[in-house]
Amino acid sequence: MHHRSTWKNRWTFMLATAGSAIGLGNIWKLPYMIGVNGGSAFVLVFIACIFLVGIPLMMTEILLGRRAQKNPYDGMLKLAQEAQVSHYWKYLGGMGMLTGLLILGFYSVIGGWVLSYIIEAAKNSFSNITAAQSSANFDGLLASPVKLLFWHTVFMCMTMGVVARGVNSGLEKANNILIPALFAILLVLLGYSMSVGDMQTAYQFMFKLDFSKITPVAVLSALGHAFFSLSLGMGAVMVYGSYLQRHVSIARTTIYIALADTALGLLVGLAIYALVFANHLAPNAGPGLIFQTLPIAFGHMPWGSFTGTLFFMLVAFAAWTSAISLVEPAIAWITENTLIKRRTAAWAIGVVVWLLGVAVVLSFNEWKDIKIIFGLNIFETLDKLTSTILLPLGGLLMAVFAGYYMKRDHVQDELDLKATAFKLWRIANNIIAPIAIAAVFLYLFGVIK
Ligand code: PFF
Repeated sequence: MHHRSTWKNRWTFMLATAGSAIGLGNIWKLPYMIGVNGGSAFVLVFIACIFLVGIPLMMTEILLGRRAQKNPYDGMLKLAQEAQVSHYWKYLGGMGMLTGLLILGFYSVIGGWVLSYIIEAAKNSFSNITAAQSSANFDGLLASPVKLLFWHTVFMCMTMGVVARGVNSGLEKANNILIPALFAILLVLLGYSMSVGDMQTAYQFMFKLDFSKITPVAVLSALGHAFFSLSLGMGAVMVYGSYLQRHVSIARTTIYIALADTALGLLVGLAIYALVFANHLAPNAGPGLIFQTLPIAFGHMPWGSFTGTLFFMLVAFAAWTSAISLVEPAIAWITENTLIKRRTAAWAIGVVVWLLGVAVVLSFNEWKDIKIIFGLNIFETLDKLTSTILLPLGGLLMAVFAGYYMKRDHVQDELDLKATAFKLWRIANNIIAPIAIAAVFLYLFGVIK
């Protein structure tokens, strides 16, 4: 009989799930997406997506996991049998496992950028750096397949090293200290940005209400990013939920995690944009944004080398805990279905994802001009395919399953909500989320112009 581990208590589950949610999505991706998608228009839609779709669906995903007590594939199969519906629902779990690996393919490469910046900060390379030098440094990193490959490899080894050992050891303890530490150092950075940056313009850029600027593309990206940021739609939260004890309140835990995740991303955004505007940089610089702007801050502040090193270390840690959750569904499936040991499974999957990462590395230099679909290179294709299609699709199907196929008292049993709260969840899960996601898909496929 396979032994399933459980979290020690609610706090560790919360930190682990927050550890999965908080990662490069908040610190690297959200800030540049805000810039690329027109600032406040994107931010407002993103916040709406978190509250109307993200929070209810995170509850859904945890409840599915806790009820199933299995990896996403077998878990969906078990739930489908319980609800006496088609066994094809298991492929929803299968799709999630695959999505996680596709995301890790590029996530690990970006995690590598962060690792290399730890070293640069520690060497005091940012001292008195100008905006132009900082951009040139970053371009230099991207132009070097050898460096990128080296750091991608280190990041993959770090990830698989923990996965091989299992989620319960080590990681839980580290989470306890490092996530609060990340918040603390962010406040230092924010304080610095407030004193030297252009906070007023940054605030206007991010929060000024202007509905006319909202475009369909901004909505599409914001919805996709709400899924990415909360780790939803691929079974990561489901697996973590499957290790959760019965008495813990799903709703309360979800709200804390979502609020922490969103607040962190927006605070990083403010800190970055105050620097962007003060240094006359372009807000729409794309994926390099934080790597071009933050060195300027660290290069000029007192204790900058120390603060910068610590900052990038904490970001690397946040990325690490998210990366682990990206592989956990696939590993849980292998270990619960075969005699393959956790360690062997971890390294085997590691090699496959590493190879995918090699292609991503090359798409920043040698293979830059190789376009896969719609003029997107390998990195962009993986990013768009997972964030704007696979995660929302996974979320949509989970919502439909929990809302329309599962027995209502089973759902209620897991959520354990008061009547009004349960009704609200049902409206969000059964109506708002599916319609919002379906509308975005229809737009994407050109049905709604
Ligand atoms: N939520 C993570 C981040 O914001 O960096 C990324 C992620 C982790 C997405 C795990 C999906 C997932 F299942």
